[in-house]
Amino acid sequence: MDITDQEKIENILYKLKSDNNITQMKQYVQHGRVSTYEHCERVARFCYLINKRFGLNADVETLLIGAMLHDFYLYDWHDKDDTHKWHGYHHADTALANAIRYFEVNEEIQHIIWCHMWPLNISRFPKTKEARIVCFADKCCSIVETFCKR
Ligand SMILES: [Fe+2]
Ligand SMILES: [Fe+2]
Repeated sequence: MDITDQEKIENILYKLKSDNNITQMKQYVQHGRVSTYEHCERVARFCYLINKRFGLNADVETLLIGAMLHDFYLYDWHDKDDTHKWHGYHHADTALANAIRYFEVNEEIQHIIWCHMWPLNISRFPKTKEARIVCFADKCCSIVETFCKR
């Protein structure tokens, strides 16, 4: 990833990244010692790389915003709280509701968030290129974060 790539990513994400609701994700642990904020940022960068490397021609703005918001559920899923029990199945809906509430995201972005947990949520198959990239990148980053405890 060169400077121009970094700039492109920053240009698309800087507004979101400075938003108070988004920075709240820094308080919550995702995997190991990684915050949800770091995780979403990493997924976004990885999506960008996959798209570039394989010449997939995805819409980069949709891709990056969807990736940054895919886990925007705003709680710590490690808390022993009954409402977090089915986190794996339900957090995409919570993230989606937050994304709509705070950022009025379009349908393409909504779809990315809604289906990112496929195949755990088996009926939510990612229908767009952007959604498939985020779904794949999320799995890769989650595995690395869990096992490397970075
Ligand atoms: Fe997720
Ligand atoms: Fe994720």
